[in-house]
Amino acid sequence: MNVQGLLRPSLAALACCLGVGTALAAPPPSATTCVACHGARGEGNPALGAPALAGQQRDYLARQLRNYRSGLRGAAKGDSHGAQMRAAVTALKTDAEVAAVAAHYSALPPQAPSARATGDLRNGQARYLGNCGACHGARAEGNPALAAPRLAGLDAAYLKRQYQAFQKGLRGTDPKDTQGRQMRMMAGTLPAASDLDDVIAFIHAQGAPR
Ligand code: HEC
Ligand code: HEC
Repeated sequence: MNVQGLLRPSLAALACCLGVGTALAAPPPSATTCVACHGARGEGNPALGAPALAGQQRDYLARQLRNYRSGLRGAAKGDSHGAQMRAAVTALKTDAEVAAVAAHYSALPPQAPSARATGDLRNGQARYLGNCGACHGARAEGNPALAAPRLAGLDAAYLKRQYQAFQKGLRGTDPKDTQGRQMRMMAGTLPAASDLDDVIAFIHAQGAPR
C-alpha cells in the first residue's frame, strides 16, 4: 500500500470523530452525493422514496450501506427503489467512507416526518406494542442491542414499503442477512392489511422522535 492508501482511512476516521457532537457539522466529502436525495440535514425526501437518515443508529446505517453494496439489499427483482440506492452507494469507495457517512447521519438531530399519518390509534397502539415494540422500542426509538432500527421519523410511505418488502421477500431473504431475516419473520404478524396503517399512525403519534 502506498502512503496515500495509508493516509486515507485515518483522514476519514478523523473526519468522523470531529463530526460527532457538532450536530450541524458539514458532511464528510463522501456524503456529497447523498444530499441530493436524502437532504442536507438527512431529513429524507418522500417524493423520491429516500428515507430520513438523521439520528438513525450508526451501526444500522453502516450495515444497510454494506448490504446495498454486497447485494444483500436492493438487488431483488422489482425493487426499483433499492436499485437506485445500490447505484448511489457506489459513490462510497472504502469501508472508512461508509463508516464516516454512517457516523455523520447518525449524529444529526432526528426530525419528525413532514406529513403525519392518520389511522386508528387504539388499534395501532395495541398492534405496535404487541408485535413490534419489543424490538423497536415502546416509542419506536429503536434498540441497538437488538439491531432494531428507529422507526420514529421515517415517512409513512417508506415504512409501509419496507414492511411490505420484507413480507414479499424483496428484503431479508438472503441467508447471510441475519437481521433482515429476523425482521422478515415478523412481517407476517399483523393480522389485517389495515393494521399496518394504524401501526404507522401510532409510530407518528409518538411526538418528536428521540
Ligand atoms: C438517487 C437518490 C439517492 C442517492 C443519491 C442516495 N440515496 Fe440513499 N436511498 C435512496 C432511496 C430511494 C432509498 C430507499 C431504498 C429502498 O427502498 O431500499 C435509500 C435508502 C438509503 C438507506 C437505507 C435507510 C434505512 O432506513 O434502511 C441508507 C442508509 C442510505 N440510503 C444512505 C445513503 C447515502 C450514505 C448516500 C450517499 C452515499 C445515499 N444514500 C445516496 C435514494 C438515494
Ligand atoms: C424480533 C425483533 C423485531 C420485531 C418484533 C419487529 N422488528 Fe422490525 N426490524 C427488526 C430488525 C432487526 C430490523 C433491521 C433489519 C435489517 O437490518 O435489515 C428491522 C427493520 C424494520 C423496518 C425497516 C426500517 C428501515 O429503516 O428500513 C421496518 C419498517 C420494521 N422493521 C417494521 C416493523 C414492524 C411494523 C413490526 C411489528 C409488526 C416489527 N418491525 C417487528 C426487528 C424486529
